Amino acid sequence: MGRSTKEGTTIRAAYVEQRGPASSIRYGELPDPVPASDEVLVRVTATAVNRVDTFVRSGAYHTPIPLPLVLGRDLVGEVADPGASGLAPGTRVWSNSLGYGGRQGASAELVCVPADRLYRLPDGVDPFDAVAVLHPAATAYTGLVHHARMRSLETLFVAGGNGAVGTCLIRMAKDLGVRVIAAARGPRNTEYCARLGADEVIDSAAADLVTALRGPAPRGVDVYCDTTGRGNVGSAVDALADRGRVLVMAGLASAPGGDSLDVGRLYIHDQSVVGFAISLATTTELAEAAAWINRRLPRDGLRLDTTILPLAQAREAHEDTEAATRGEAHRYRGRVVLRVGPSAEEPADQPGVSCT
Ligand SMILES: NC(=O)c1ccc[n+]([C@@H]2O[C@H](COP(=O)([O-])OP(=O)(O)OC[C@H]3O[C@@H](n4cnc5c(N)ncnc54)[C@H](OP(=O)(O)O)[C@@H]3O)[C@@H](O)[C@H]2O)c1
Repeated sequence: MGRSTKEGTTIRAAYVEQRGPASSIRYGELPDPVPASDEVLVRVTATAVNRVDTFVRSGAYHTPIPLPLVLGRDLVGEVADPGASGLAPGTRVWSNSLGYGGRQGASAELVCVPADRLYRLPDGVDPFDAVAVLHPAATAYTGLVHHARMRSLETLFVAGGNGAVGTCLIRMAKDLGVRVIAAARGPRNTEYCARLGADEVIDSAAADLVTALRGPAPRGVDVYCDTTGRGNVGSAVDALADRGRVLVMAGLASAPGGDSLDVGRLYIHDQSVVGFAISLATTTELAEAAAWINRRLPRDGLRLDTTILPLAQAREAHEDTEAATRGEAHRYRGRVVLRVGPSAEEPADQPGVSCT
């Protein structure tokens, strides 16, 4: 049973009427959302644009959605109506599992969030820094802990170590006491991985990964995770130690085919290939990841390169993120975060940076 709101009031939101291209994104008025008894009404400060948000919007990642769909899975905001949650109005909160699985999304002034998908934002943490990292950080935690079953003293290989998920994988693995070998393109990115704590770094622009891994990991790595979406599972298995795991979590937008797997080698060496999508994580798994994120946010912010745009530019943010996914030139550096609320239509206060 929904709680009552004022009749006829509206919120501004970025949404689509149907699944489709970025050009179908609208920024405009929708009726005020009405929270159910197990939901908290949140006044949103910031939301992020992740690659998966473009997949849900286009239909490339199929998941039940309400229509019109308010876009986006991540938000940081303040409690507007706590319902039965016990949270005080004004408490700073975050969520990272909206906009799929039948739930409305995060890109609106007011959003209803199931209480078991809502977490407090630690004191002193900047909402824009936080919202940028919620999805990649939860991905790194659930991927390593729940799917790859990563243990201290094991060795992790991360390709794309300078990306959002790669950065979080390196930080998470170091928290677990894992030895990390990271690969990234060019000296600037490999140096960044080393600063994050990677024990060994490989310049993937200059080396074949499997060959390069034989130096630092002659017996193979325990977990191999390629976040670039360009990886080859067959070669990844070649780089595994006995009982090693390939964690597959990227590549939806890449051309299919080209992979071949030596099945005999896989079982003789007690190895496995584990596919993983955070969209299927349970609320218990998400809450465990949230606890790690909340321990980490006040320490170093888990900070990522971020561009902040007004919510009114959601369409442009999706177009730019899609260009990045295709490996094309794009305008905005790092994660794109959208400003919601009174300043949602003011132009960006930081210039876009051209990236390839
Ligand atoms: N399964 C899940 O639950 C899940 C959750 C979150 C994300 N993902 C997926 O994970 C992937 C990474 O996401 P992200 O947010 O970390 O993206 P990101 O921040 O853009 O990072 C992408 C990384 O891949 C590298 N890369 C891109 N194109 C490359 C190429 N042609 N050759 C070599 N390296 C290349 C980038 O290197 P440069 O910096 O040199 O370009 C960067 O290191 C995406 O495909 C995303 O959809 C999956």
